[in-house]
Amino acid sequence: MYQHLLTDLENGILTITINRPDKLNALNIDVLTDLDKAADEINSNPEIKAAIITGAGPKAFVAGADISEFAGLDKEQSKAFAKRGQDILMKFETCSKPVIAAVNGFALGGGCELAMACHFRIASVNAKFGQPEVNLGLIPGYGGTQRLTQLIGKGRALELMITANIIDANTALQYGLVNHVVEAGELIAKAKTILDLINTKAPIAVAGCIKAANAVFDESLDGFATEIDEFGKCFVTEDVKEGTTAFLEKRKPVFKGK
Ligand code: COA
Repeated sequence: MYQHLLTDLENGILTITINRPDKLNALNIDVLTDLDKAADEINSNPEIKAAIITGAGPKAFVAGADISEFAGLDKEQSKAFAKRGQDILMKFETCSKPVIAAVNGFALGGGCELAMACHFRIASVNAKFGQPEVNLGLIPGYGGTQRLTQLIGKGRALELMITANIIDANTALQYGLVNHVVEAGELIAKAKTILDLINTKAPIAVAGCIKAANAVFDESLDGFATEIDEFGKCFVTEDVKEGTTAFLEKRKPVFKGK
């Protein structure tokens, strides 16, 4: 089904491994096509409750968009290139199920952008983050100028983008770019532990949190109004009855996503 992704579904968690280690998992057209399909699969397959995105090999999460595909693009083609990448990454950001990045090495350029499009990020100690496009005479094109600024603030984001500096995992933690830093061998286990916990919660409420948090950054939406709508949606679910009843009966709720 996929040319460059390995997938594994266990306990409702789909682990997606970008598998081009000889090119440090760089995002070429085929990898992007696979990621597009994978985002659709997460959304449409009811057996998938959550997803992890990681990279194959010990060295890289994703070392960027595939630079070898840049040659010869004219202005309109390069804009279409950026738009396609943005649209695919947006599918992960707006996915109603949690998608987390397990960053296992270089997350540069499009790799950092892919990680930032996930709902949050966990890094191994050897992870490295950066938007080094100015080294190529470019700017980030897969949403990096927007999401890096949202996540770490304008001053730090601009410094990273216009110096092309690469930061290590602990600096990324200090900046709030990642939520946790763990030993390389513990990365996927840590991601799964967090997702196992999320998967005990009411799925419609989890989806509502994601939608309302995304609305903060969507100029076409009123975030507070989105929160009210999502709050209302939760109130007519079976899960809200289960959650409140279980609390009063002093037992753990069992949610059905209905
Ligand atoms: N696009 C295409 N190929 C890439 C790539 C990218 N973004 N990043 C790495 N590769 C390829 C290299 O060309 C090399 O291929 P080869 O063995 O056929 O020559 C292979 O992956 C290994 O990379 P290499 O540069 O030899 O590894 P390194 O350990 O010396 O350096 C990096 C690692 C990440 C510092 C370096 O690969 C790099 O700077 N990559 C580009 C990062 C970047 O600018 N990303 C933003 C792109 S918009």
